[in-house]
Amino acid sequence: MDKVIDVQRLYGEIEGVQILNDVSFSALRGEVTAIIGGSGSGKTTIMRHLLGLNPVQRGYVSVLGRNLSDITEEEQRKLYQEMGVFFQDGALLNSMSVAENVALPLKHQGNLPDELTDDIVRMKLRLVNLEEAYYLYPSQLSGGMLKRAALARSIAMDPPLLFCDEPGAGLDPVSLESLDRLILDLKNLLGMSIILITHEISSIMRTANRIIFLDKGTVLFEGSTREALKSDIPEIADFFAAIMKKQGGTA
Ligand SMILES: Nc1ncnc2c1ncn2[C@@H]1O[C@H](COP(=O)(O)OP(=O)(O)OP(=O)(O)O)[C@@H](O)[C@H]1O
Ligand SMILES: [Mg+2]
Repeated sequence: MDKVIDVQRLYGEIEGVQILNDVSFSALRGEVTAIIGGSGSGKTTIMRHLLGLNPVQRGYVSVLGRNLSDITEEEQRKLYQEMGVFFQDGALLNSMSVAENVALPLKHQGNLPDELTDDIVRMKLRLVNLEEAYYLYPSQLSGGMLKRAALARSIAMDPPLLFCDEPGAGLDPVSLESLDRLILDLKNLLGMSIILITHEISSIMRTANRIIFLDKGTVLFEGSTREALKSDIPEIADFFAAIMKKQGGTA
């Protein structure tokens, strides 16, 4: 099967502290791959490696067929145009309207005429069901609307590969469900491959095809969601039990 991400024996350290320890996993084209695990287990650090923000010092990382240890500046720039990112605490710029925020990546990357940029912005806002927020400023939006606007910005360039770090954090169950539905639409209708970092059991159940479970910088499990839920690896069983209890067993 076609791998959009292939990580083999990746180690990572920050300021002399070992953060990732022999991490290997892959993500397949057209799937939602959920990276899960407790706080501090290394999820965001892995994403930073995949984005080329943390250098690969030891191990192999390939993204959309490019080996990140052996990539020119030019190739990395091209790769950036094929990836959308929703950062864990990435916010919209408060001084700009929603439409201007969504237009940012388009203005930054391309030489598109203004009218075309505006058409794309309207299409993306319609996709996330936020047409009415075109002229609004971030301070005028609800938490769920802010998340959907940020998602519209991360897909402005139609990336084939989308990274989402805790997109549902802090949302009420209804807003969370609509965000999950949107993620599924991006996969099913637009064929995007999505890497989803999440703590939400309902999001995992609704959207994930595959699960990568991290514990203390190591992958303890890689496989289907169904297999993960049945796993008798104690750390995984404990993780699911804890989040189901906290989230009211919505699964
Ligand atoms: N810039 C940094 N400097 C020092 N240590 C860091 C840095 N970034 C991350 N770490 C450490 O690396 C480990 C993994 O962090 P990471 O942010 O990847 O965890 P996470 O799984 O994303 O957690 P969370 O669910 O809380 O977002 C943690 O122990 C963290 O303290
Ligand atoms: Mg994180």
